[in-house]
Amino acid sequence: FEIKRIIDQAYDKAQLNKEDITAILAEDLANLDYLLQKADEKRDEICGDEVHLRAIIEFSSYCKQNCYYCGLRKDNQQLKRYQLKSKEIIETAQMASELGYQTVVLQSGEDDYPAEEIAEIIKKIKKTTAMAVTLSLGERDFEAYKLWREAGADRYLLKHEIADKVLYQKYHPGMSFENRIESLKYLKVLGYQIGSGVIIGLPDQTPAILAEDLLLCQDLELDMIGSGPFIPHQQTPLRGSEKGTVEMTLKFTALSRLLLPLAHIPATTALGTIDAEGRQKALQAGANVVMPNVTDGRYREQYQIYPDKICVNEEAGDCRQCIGGIIASLGRYVSQNQGHSLRE
Ligand code: SAM
Ligand code: SF4
Ligand code: FES
Repeated sequence: FEIKRIIDQAYDKAQLNKEDITAILAEDLANLDYLLQKADEKRDEICGDEVHLRAIIEFSSYCKQNCYYCGLRKDNQQLKRYQLKSKEIIETAQMASELGYQTVVLQSGEDDYPAEEIAEIIKKIKKTTAMAVTLSLGERDFEAYKLWREAGADRYLLKHEIADKVLYQKYHPGMSFENRIESLKYLKVLGYQIGSGVIIGLPDQTPAILAEDLLLCQDLELDMIGSGPFIPHQQTPLRGSEKGTVEMTLKFTALSRLLLPLAHIPATTALGTIDAEGRQKALQAGANVVMPNVTDGRYREQYQIYPDKICVNEEAGDCRQCIGGIIASLGRYVSQNQGHSLRE
């Protein structure tokens, strides 16, 4: 009853202290259904049945960072790398627009793709399609963020990954938690809609740390919050670790909806990878966004963040159809607008 009372408080006030959030995350599954149901109600109240699609172009697998969990990390020399030319990126974006997408997400490893070239790509996409443009390029220098915003980019996705500084440092050698947070704050100042979020189930991550993560997300006034389960990759230092669970990912998704009611929340591909029904479950636990892949089939296998990623044998049109079917099967519908931030 105590946990139910806390969930009700989250539903009514969108506010909980760290102890209460931790208690929900640490509990066994006794109140899981109740939590997911309240989050689904809140989603219905705020977003209705509308689901936003964001088409992802994974345009480069080169990365200079060495995140412990990620298959694209620099030291993974077994991975064959690719980088699309600007013409290919623009053509892929135009194809996504023709498929009906209203947002395109340009994603890559922390590649040194020239900032000016990215700016030109953004301008061209904005000029030739009606899509919103989201960037997910990792940390770049602050002039680049500014240049891209001026070129017309609307949103930036940069997960803070884990709110515990000691673990952040351990899993991100050579990177700094402070710079990540500063980047997010600066992006907001520049007028980007900002998205962040976490990986669920990294080794030594506790419910108390995940509670910190949620409080940080509130603090940052995120427009979008994502959480995907950690999936161990053989060619990384975390190869022997346990993967994140569906239950914890759903709990985090549900609490994201209750504590940041106006955020856009994706049903992640990683969740769809560890559970064939994962995205459906997230869409019924607070999520209102799906991010289908539109990258050319030739490259999908090589963007190997984690193993056995879904959709590597499909093409953009297949995924668009598949997602449409999933959304309709839940009695929901695909939005016809760009799905800008709900905070404004
Ligand atoms: N390089 C950019 C960055 O790090 O922000 C964007 C691309 S990166 C591949 C996108 C996201 O993949 C990261 O934010 C991270 O959360 C996720 N990711 C990486 N490795 C993962 C793994 N093994 N399991 C689950 N998610 C992972
Ligand atoms: Fe590079 Fe991003 Fe993977 Fe880290 S998570 S290794 S920055 S692609
Ligand atoms: Fe790609 Fe279902 S979304 S096949």
